[in-house]
Amino acid sequence: MALFQLIYMSTLATDEPDILHGILDSSVRNNPRKNITGMMLYSEGSVLQVLEGEKDDVLELFRVIERDVRHSGIYLLIESEISTRNFSSWSMGFRRLSQADLAKFPAAAQVFKARTNELALRVQPGTALIVLKSFVEDSMGTDS
Ligand SMILES: Cc1cc2nc3c(=O)[nH]c(=O)nc-3n(C[C@H](O)[C@H](O)[C@H](O)COP(=O)(O)O)c2cc1C
Repeated sequence: MALFQLIYMSTLATDEPDILHGILDSSVRNNPRKNITGMMLYSEGSVLQVLEGEKDDVLELFRVIERDVRHSGIYLLIESEISTRNFSSWSMGFRRLSQADLAKFPAAAQVFKARTNELALRVQPGTALIVLKSFVEDSMGTDS
């Protein structure tokens, strides 16, 4: 079956660190069972997440995530078949972006400024992937 990649943005219900810890706990526990890999970036209340794996598994997980009341304003940026994984190292890599990160990576600032759906429409989906990839090297693996 085909490898599939899905990227979306959403806004967390609150910015309490417990929410992120809970989400990452679930990801590390569940994603390896389905051979799902990915990465999540967080900045000022919003998340940008990429999920990779078998198409059915990714879509099934996304249906669960979509119903999660801990976030809203879910905006799908990319759904695409891929030949190789971009984020194979982690069940779910994570990085909280600092103001310094945003200053250093204008593309990241652009993506995270797109908070409402209307603005998000203007975000080039490819830019979101580039932003996620640019933080791969120095992100925290949640597997270790
Ligand atoms: C922004 C966001 C991202 C999430 N990402 C994942 C994920 O990658 N894997 C996962 O299993 N659950 C993820 N969740 C949590 C699911 O919605 C759901 O609560 C969880 O899978 C339930 O499984 P559990 O009972 O084993 O914790 C995410 C939730 C949110 C709000």
